[in-house]
Amino acid sequence: MRRVHLEAAEDHVQRLARESDPLGAVKELIWNALDADATRVDVVLHRSPLGAVERVTVHDDGTGMAPEALAAAFDRIGGSWKKWTSGTLLKQRTLHGSNGQGRLRAYALGDHIRWTTVADGGGGRSRTEVSAHAATRNDFLIGDSRPTTDPTGTLVEAWGKQSPRLDRLPLRANHRRLTTELAPYLTAYPEVTVVYDGTPVDPGTSIRRTAVYPLAFGAETAQLKVIEWSAAVDRELHLCDQHGIPVGSVDAGIRAPGFDFTAYVLWHAMADNVGDVHLGDAHDSQVTALVAVAREQLRAHFRSRADDRRRELVEGWRAEGSYPYDGAPAGEPARVERETFDLVATTVHRHLPGRGNQRRGTLRLLCEVLRSQPDRVADLLDDIFKLSDDERGQLDQALRRTAAPRVIRAATTVADRLGVIAALRRLALDERAEDPAALRALLADESWVFGERHGLLAGDRTLDGLLVRHAEVEVLLALARREHEGRQNLVVVAAPTVGLKELARVTAYADAIAGDGGLRGRRVDWDVWLVGSEVDSEARLEARHPDRPPGCVQDRVEGGNRVRVWARSWSEVVHECADRVRFYQDSMADPS
Ligand SMILES: Nc1ncnc2c1ncn2[C@@H]1O[C@H](COP(=O)(O)OP(=O)(O)OP(=O)(O)O)[C@@H](O)[C@H]1O
Ligand SMILES: [Mg+2]
Repeated sequence: MRRVHLEAAEDHVQRLARESDPLGAVKELIWNALDADATRVDVVLHRSPLGAVERVTVHDDGTGMAPEALAAAFDRIGGSWKKWTSGTLLKQRTLHGSNGQGRLRAYALGDHIRWTTVADGGGGRSRTEVSAHAATRNDFLIGDSRPTTDPTGTLVEAWGKQSPRLDRLPLRANHRRLTTELAPYLTAYPEVTVVYDGTPVDPGTSIRRTAVYPLAFGAETAQLKVIEWSAAVDRELHLCDQHGIPVGSVDAGIRAPGFDFTAYVLWHAMADNVGDVHLGDAHDSQVTALVAVAREQLRAHFRSRADDRRRELVEGWRAEGSYPYDGAPAGEPARVERETFDLVATTVHRHLPGRGNQRRGTLRLLCEVLRSQPDRVADLLDDIFKLSDDERGQLDQALRRTAAPRVIRAATTVADRLGVIAALRRLALDERAEDPAALRALLADESWVFGERHGLLAGDRTLDGLLVRHAEVEVLLALARREHEGRQNLVVVAAPTVGLKELARVTAYADAIAGDGGLRGRRVDWDVWLVGSEVDSEARLEARHPDRPPGCVQDRVEGGNRVRVWARSWSEVVHECADRVRFYQDSMADPS
């Protein structure tokens, strides 16, 4: 029996154990096994009958520690032989260790620690036990070596500490943490198996996708490896040497909603520089520069992945018939609307119903909301779906990125108006205005048909009451708007044809209603339209006066009221509307 003593303050040794992080301790023991060329490492969490973790063992089939090497392995902190060697002794695998202190972390797993190691040494194969106790943590007792024919390898056992922290070791999340950290190593050395609490650590089964990018910073080059996982993981940016052996980690530091990933920066000088990472971004070091370019590349990666994912979602909806658009968008506003819809719908896709036909209904509704209330879409969806901060942020960004709300509103207006024009063409031209009720129903909300300045008129009881007193003509439509100190009235009279006789009658009618005392006290703008299927040549001459706009047969002011009388054919009305919409549409497509 020999005793080796660490020449270091005990509290320093205690600090090195990092007792709050038992998983970190397990990792160190695994790395020690892998550094000893193990092909199988078994971490076993022994539970008490009540389920508490009361003993942790890590067994490996590596080369073990020969008696003559043991004292050197245990009697100091730092000065690891691994620092001066390029690879493991037997298989030249990449080494993880370099600090000569990882073993001390075993105190995080128990007060008692025992290494039982079988190795080939100068005196043949032998077994040796090394034990330590937290009460005298600087001392290691090395037992006598005995010959054996057992296979080489090391068993580390830790027990005698009932810390609730240890009870967290079996959590699935810890298995995943090990998986993400060991992923590059296990991918590089597929012959190695690590089993944690009965389950092999197998990145292959949970890796969704891997991407590798070259990085350049200053005169140096490095690599970024991005692994996307099929389960939630801690988003870490592992700082690795050129072989992918992690020597440190920082937060991934980017937003990539909906992705489970870890990233690895591989750089040959990482081990020597990794300490600088904790100096913070303000510090001008190579590692901070490298982390910055790595994050930039990560951001670009996930921007493009998010685009892929959106495309896949949209393709899926199209294939199942729940996508609310057909074919390719015609024209710029339609393209903007479609693009915005895709962004919005794919951002909230988590909230869409799982069933195809319900999803179809929801997507259609979404499309309607986007058309009718483009500026409020983010608020509405937030109310309905209770979006996460990430989703809300993305949505705001999507809607800000383009002039989407404006263009969509404009495009919707155009689409609506084209619909009204088509209906008007059918009712007024094809059916020669023979169904006044249908025409009235169509035009009641579409007063813009008679000119943009009539855009916001509505039905009005005072005006209706006034017109009842003057029933000389058949009124198709009477709409009004009350303004600051006056009002605007529009009265449309329909006639089969417009001739001088009809004109005279309507002009007299206009005078009569304008002269009615009912609206006294207000300044009133009257527009009285006479619209027929035809305007005969005499009436047309009247309507073409050099001082008046086309169609205006009378424009006079009397007693503060302005009275304008118009004579138009339905086909003129329809064509002028179509012209205005076309102009609007053109100016939208080409905003210059
Ligand atoms: N499972 C093992 N198999 C073989 N040798 C081991 C094993 N565990 C520890 N050793 C030996 O003990 C030494 C000390 O291990 P320790 O983890 O403290 O330091 P290290 O691995 O050299 O460096 P680091 O602190 O970076 O891990 C190792 O260098 C190695 O020689
Ligand atoms: Mg080590």
